[in-house]
Amino acid sequence: MKVQIPRSEGLDNSLDLLSEGYLFILNRCRRLQTDVFQTRLLAQNVICMTGTEAAELFYDEERFIRKGAAPKRVQKTLFGQNGVQGLDGAAHKHRKLLFMSLMTPERLKGIVDLTRAQWEKTIKKWESKDRIILFDDVQEILCRVACEWAGVPLEETEVRKRADDFGEMVDGFGAVGPRHWQGKGARKRAEQWIETVIEQIRKGELNPPEGTAASMTARHRDLNNKLLETKVAAVELLNILRPIVAIATYVAFGVHALHEHPECRKKMQSGEGQYVQQFVQEIRRFYPFTPFVGARVRRDFTWKNYQFENGTLVLLDVYGMNHDPRIWDQPDEFRPERFDHWEGSPFDFIPQGGGDRARGHRCAGEWLTINVMEASLHFLTNEIDYDVPVQDLSISLSRIPTLPKDRMVIHHVRRKT
Ligand code: HEM
Repeated sequence: MKVQIPRSEGLDNSLDLLSEGYLFILNRCRRLQTDVFQTRLLAQNVICMTGTEAAELFYDEERFIRKGAAPKRVQKTLFGQNGVQGLDGAAHKHRKLLFMSLMTPERLKGIVDLTRAQWEKTIKKWESKDRIILFDDVQEILCRVACEWAGVPLEETEVRKRADDFGEMVDGFGAVGPRHWQGKGARKRAEQWIETVIEQIRKGELNPPEGTAASMTARHRDLNNKLLETKVAAVELLNILRPIVAIATYVAFGVHALHEHPECRKKMQSGEGQYVQQFVQEIRRFYPFTPFVGARVRRDFTWKNYQFENGTLVLLDVYGMNHDPRIWDQPDEFRPERFDHWEGSPFDFIPQGGGDRARGHRCAGEWLTINVMEASLHFLTNEIDYDVPVQDLSISLSRIPTLPKDRMVIHHVRRKT
């Protein structure tokens, strides 16, 4: 027996998505009392889903593909074209290996060391600065870290410009109008820059250390043993650099949480057990970053008596799952301790995607993100003191992506004695 998938009210919900942002899917699931509903977005039929079972379905490669899932506006800002996000099957697994080979314990230790060194350098500058817009400065710090770790040359004079471009690529994907155009411009500039880097490596004019992302991407061969097109290699190298800089969002949220919950700061300082790890996990759960992930139905199938038609775009609600009371006790409370003895599955805590990392589309940089967050937040709580001046600390859920309104300002930074 087939059952009609509940339908969201309205002919087309695109404007509602823009105004409700992170809450778009969650609001409708609650209203319609369902984990699955259908709607129209950007003039196409879309199925939206939430919950652990829906996540398990979404990551079943027999049922879903990624080809053609990301709208052009996301490709022209956030992802780039013909990168790993839109590949399926053997081609995807082969390309994913390139990313996973960069995430060895030694390479991860390397980025943590670089992160610590950059924080040490930054503190000297911060001590003499009146007011620090933390999000902007952390983007610069992580831009230096990302390029050095990846083997991409970066002059000190270009750090701000490149950091801004990385930031705008992320900032532009969920917007229409000027913010989106800025994101497109940023991607164009970044691709041109990184294409030149790839060409120089291939000509032997630039020799990044063995095993770095720049060296590996420039030399990566596809399943037909062909080098990637320069443009595609640049897109993939940017798929490493851009998200490392984006960790600044989580660091800003971390400082927001430390301010709102002084008891957490004390526990971070006393180094109690695994508290830093729990704190970082709770940041990734509680704060809004990825709104949802998308895929297309590979071929017609039925699930829970609902018909999924070939080619339909399906969105899985990441933010909603992070606040689902069936998964999390008191989900709207910030409580790192919930991760003490937490036994999750690959389908219930999915701030950076779910399922299998090596074989599926789950974020390649999840461990890297956690490590860099831990190093940064440990530094911010154990090596320095600072004050948080009066500012707008609100976080709008209708803006995708979002941040504390004033981008988290701090002042009176001093090294701990
Ligand atoms: C994929 C989030 C950091 C590299 C993804 C996905 C999400 C995500 C939601 C898609 C999962 C899916 O489609 O099912 C984030 C967030 C980050 C972050 C919130 C925090 C800043 C990183 C870092 C790297 C990275 C630091 C690399 C250094 C990738 C790559 C993919 C990906 C290559 C594509 C994987 C694939 O399609 O197989 N990320 N990510 N990400 N991420 Fe991240």
